[in-house]
Formats: sequence, structure tokens, C-alpha cells
Amino acid sequence: MRITFKDAAHLIRLVIVVLIAMAAFAGLRSLMVPESFGQYGHYRGNALEEIRAKPVSFAGRQACAECHDAVVEAKKAGKHVNIGCEACHGAQAKHAEDPSLKPTKPDTAVLCARCHEKNSAKPHGFPQVATKDHNTGMACGDCHQPHQPKL
Ligand code: HEC
Ligand code: HEC
Ligand code: HEC
Ligand code: HEC
Repeated sequence: MRITFKDAAHLIRLVIVVLIAMAAFAGLRSLMVPESFGQYGHYRGNALEEIRAKPVSFAGRQACAECHDAVVEAKKAGKHVNIGCEACHGAQAKHAEDPSLKPTKPDTAVLCARCHEKNSAKPHGFPQVATKDHNTGMACGDCHQPHQPKL
């Protein structure tokens, strides 16, 4: 034994350094990793509670249909059938809960161009227009019905 470890001082120093590093890592880790980390998986368990506590902004299209069935019917007959109400009207959970908080009507000059402005990156079949040439300064809603756009 003696002979084997005679010149091992440098190894012992190395082991001590490694042990100190491990202890420092464990200490820092317990300080820095949040308590609920790993409760359910590789993330902070408390994050679920925090997300759940956030106020809901979107009501979902079913909520709109409860009071606006006429719009839903109109929309069924046009190409906008699959676009959710809140894609155009914005998050309306507050209005759905209390209808007296009336949403402002979207400005079609801004809204429609967001999806229909001509862009060569869009699929060819998607109806798109160069708004500068297509509508000479008029709002899109002057000619098209937003809920049932027709050519
Ligand atoms: C509980 C019933 C109710 C629900 C649910 C509801 N609304 Fe309404 N909404 C109303 C009433 C009432 C008005 C006012 C109608 C009026 O003044 O002509 C209104 C008006 C509106 C208006 C028109 C504002 C204007 O200037 O005329 C928009 C747009 C609208 N709602 C969108 C939505 C959307 C989108 C949803 C779904 C997220 C929704 N509503 C859910 C009852 C509801
Ligand atoms: C493609 C965009 C778009 C979608 C999708 C859409 N709307 Fe609208 N909606 C508009 C615009 C733009 C206006 C404003 C029209 C105006 O200025 O007269 C409007 C107006 C309204 C109004 C006011 C009354 C009227 O008819 O002008 C209500 C209520 C309404 N929308 C409800 C809904 C509901 C409910 C849905 C889902 C079933 C829906 N909208 C989906 C764009 C949209
Ligand atoms: C959220 C994206 C979106 C917005 C905003 C939007 N559209 Fe559309 N629009 C679509 C989609 C998707 C279609 C269907 C494309 C298809 O069938 O290939 C469509 C189809 C159309 C068509 C073709 C109808 C037909 O019969 O071929 C017209 C016209 C149109 N929209 C006008 C408008 C106008 C005007 C507005 C603003 C009030 C508007 N769109 C807002 C996504 C949108
Ligand atoms: C002066 C009336 C008028 C105005 C304003 C207007 N359009 Fe149109 N739009 C038409 C007519 C008519 C057609 C069908 C003939 C054509 O394709 O030019 C059409 C066709 C379209 C189409 C279908 C194109 C295709 O290739 O299938 C889209 C998308 C469209 N418009 C979007 C818009 C948008 C977005 C606005 C606002 C920026 C707007 N329109 C403003 C009259 C109008």
C-alpha cells in the first residue's frame, strides 16, 4: 500500500479539488433550481398553477355562436366559414361574459390586408390582391361582406 501511494499526493489534491467542485455544484444547484422543478417532469411544477391563474382572453367560437347565430349562418355560406370569429375580432372573452362591453368593429383596410395582401410566398390558390391597385383607397368592407366575402 505504502509503495503504491508513495507519490500520490498530487492525486489526492486532485480528488479534493473535484470533491470541492462537486459540493459547490450541489450547493449552487439547490440554491438556483426552483423548488417545484421535477415535480411532474423536466420543468417547474408551479408553472402549471401560474398559467392556470392567468385571465382567459379568448372565448372561442362556440361562445360567439350562442348569441350571434345570424353571423354564424352567414359565415357558413362563404369562404370565411373556417375562420374563427376572434381571428378577426380579437380576443373577446370579456365581451362574451358581459355583452355591454361592446367590441369595436375591425378596420377592414388593415384587417383584410393582413391575410390577403399579395405575397409570392403564399400558396398560389389563396385569393390575394395587391391592395394598392385593387382598392383605390376604399375600405375592403365597402365592396366585400366580411362574413361572406364574394368576388
Ligand atoms: C351573451 C351574448 C353574447 C356573446 C356570448 C357574444 N356577444 Fe357579441 N354582442 C352581444 C350583444 C348583445 C351585442 C350588441 C348588439 C347590438 O348592439 O346590436 C354584441 C355586439 C357584438 C359586436 C358588434 C359591435 C358593434 O359595433 O356593433 C361584435 C363584433 C361582437 N359582438 C362580436 C362577438 C364575438 C367575436 C363573440 C365571441 C367571442 C361574441 N360577440 C360573443 C352579445 C354577445
Ligand atoms: C374575416 C374576418 C371576420 C370574421 C372571421 C368574423 N368577422 Fe364579424 N366582422 C368583421 C368585420 C370587418 C366587421 C365590421 C363590418 C362593418 O364595419 O360594418 C364585423 C362585424 C361584426 C358584427 C357587427 C354587426 C355586423 O354584422 O356588421 C358582429 C356582431 C360580428 N361581426 C360577429 C362575428 C361573429 C360572431 C363571428 C364568428 C361567427 C365573426 N364576426 C367572424 C370581420 C369578421
Ligand atoms: C385570418 C385570415 C383572413 C382574414 C383576416 C380575411 N380573410 Fe378573406 N379569406 C381567408 C381565407 C382562408 C379564405 C379562403 C381561401 C380559400 O378558400 O382558398 C378567404 C377568402 C376570401 C375571398 C374569396 C372569396 C371567394 O368566394 O373566392 C375574399 C374576396 C376575401 N376572403 C375577402 C376578405 C375581406 C374583404 C376581408 C376583410 C374583411 C378578409 N377577406 C379577411 C382568410 C382571411
Ligand atoms: C371597389 C370595390 C372593391 C374594393 C374596395 C375591394 N374589392 Fe376586393 N374585389 C372586388 C371585385 C369586383 C373582385 C372580383 C374581381 C377581381 O378579382 O378583381 C374582388 C376580388 C377580391 C379578392 C379575390 C381575388 C382572387 O384572386 O380570388 C380578394 C382576396 C379581395 N378582393 C380582397 C380585397 C381586399 C383585402 C380589399 C381591401 C384592401 C378589397 N378587396 C377591396 C371589389 C373590391
